[in-house]
Amino acid sequence: MSNKVLVEMKVNGKNIKKEVEPRFLLTDFVRDELRLTGTHVGCEHGVCGACTILVNQEPVRGCLMFAVQADGCDVQTVESLNQPDGTLNLLQQAFSDNHALQCGFCTPGFLMTVTHFLEENHNPNEEEIREAISGNLCRCTGYENIIKAVKDAAGRLQEQQKKTVSSV
Ligand code: FES
Ligand code: FES
Repeated sequence: MSNKVLVEMKVNGKNIKKEVEPRFLLTDFVRDELRLTGTHVGCEHGVCGACTILVNQEPVRGCLMFAVQADGCDVQTVESLNQPDGTLNLLQQAFSDNHALQCGFCTPGFLMTVTHFLEENHNPNEEEIREAISGNLCRCTGYENIIKAVKDAAGRLQEQQKKTVSSV
């Protein structure tokens, strides 16, 4: 007898309805069931931040949450960031332009953490950026270029907002 549970959630704007085993982690659900493999799994015990995704607009460790706990939630993975034609969004472009990644394993987690951070803080200083990304580990970059990328993205966001306001 299957002990699967029906879960319903919105993932990257799409309604999903699937039966899952209660032991299934949210990371495994998005990667293995939905084939959204942009979310990476590093430590699998809440330390590295590689698995960070947004649940109801808040960053969570996907490896510390069961898929059934996301029932009824709005989930965003890194695949939600770029345009359907593959065009990078402003934050992704800033990471690319500032060489903020090497192997890229940590990058999806950083992008999701910073997406939430820049929504809350449009004009962060360096200390605030360092604090915001302190839960995400990177073994390659030394963080300096990641910090530059976040500052750059914040600047681009401000420019975009000015243009939007002046065109209204
Ligand atoms: Fe989830 Fe490391 S894989 S925090
Ligand atoms: Fe390699 Fe961060 S770019 S772990």
